[in-house]
Amino acid sequence: MRPTLVIGSTGKVGRRVLDLLAERGLPTRAGSRRSDPAFDWDHPGTWADALAGVGNLCVSYYPDLAAPGAPAAIEALTAAAVEAGVGRFVLLSGRGEHNAQLCERIVQGSGLDHTLLRASWFAQNFSEGHLLEPVLGGVVALPAGQVAEPFVDVDDIAEVALAALTDDRHSGRLYELTGPRLLTFAEAAAEISAAAGREVAYVPVTAGEFRAALTEVAGSEYADLLTGLCAEVLDGRNASVAHGVREALGREPREFGDFCRAAAGTGVWKG
Ligand SMILES: NC(=O)c1ccc[n+]([C@@H]2O[C@H](COP(=O)([O-])OP(=O)(O)OC[C@H]3O[C@@H](n4cnc5c(N)ncnc54)[C@H](OP(=O)(O)O)[C@@H]3O)[C@@H](O)[C@H]2O)c1
Repeated sequence: MRPTLVIGSTGKVGRRVLDLLAERGLPTRAGSRRSDPAFDWDHPGTWADALAGVGNLCVSYYPDLAAPGAPAAIEALTAAAVEAGVGRFVLLSGRGEHNAQLCERIVQGSGLDHTLLRASWFAQNFSEGHLLEPVLGGVVALPAGQVAEPFVDVDDIAEVALAALTDDRHSGRLYELTGPRLLTFAEAAAEISAAAGREVAYVPVTAGEFRAALTEVAGSEYADLLTGLCAEVLDGRNASVAHGVREALGREPREFGDFCRAAAGTGVWKG
């Protein structure tokens, strides 16, 4: 049996997908700059070795499918995947971003067997991603106003990815993956506060304030990307729940409150 290549294998979603495949006893190959062979989005010369002899492919793009370079990279990767004789191409996508939708169409038009996972804002951004530091600092400042978001648990995304990689029923499907409940960022911060036992406040800021603060700590390229991303996805277009987890797995998605208690239990919010 040929291994499944997981691109983004050390990331929030990828490492869970790799673990789930391994728990099933299925052969895997890690794909990141640290794997052997390495896979580097910035060095397409690394792709052929990473893809050689691979069965299915699970793809998390870095830095984000909303980034300007994403469509060209996905176009090139799908061509390399066709060349390498890859089986199913499973793409982790975003909900509502223009470039993410372009990438989905590229995969759909590639001729590859595929499954698209269109995910909402990850709950784990607060515990493993770019919002962990703000949570530890007690203030989550975002240009999100009072918009509501159906935060999705990445454990659900990984389970859907596993299903897509191992079951032909998911061929050609596009799953819109959200949590079961809409929460504003203020409500999410309140639930994190209660679970973590520390005060975490949500502070709505303007896009300009957000970009300026982020530029200081992370540089202008990342600040521009994240500010643009927030403007795209936090304008109300995603303020609805979808049913992709139930469609794919036949069960309801995990609750944000359960995520908070599990994350608190790991000690990650103790600082
Ligand atoms: N966060 C959200 O709320 C959200 C919502 C919907 C969709 N998404 C999508 O999720 C994807 C990100 O997934 P994630 O959050 O699981 O990832 P992540 O936790 O941010 O991890 C990034 C991964 O990319 C790898 N990486 C970084 N630079 C790389 C490079 N130049 N070449 C190859 N690999 C590289 C990292 O591995 P190494 O450092 O080992 O190379 C790591 O495995 C994005 O495409 C985004 O569009 C995110």
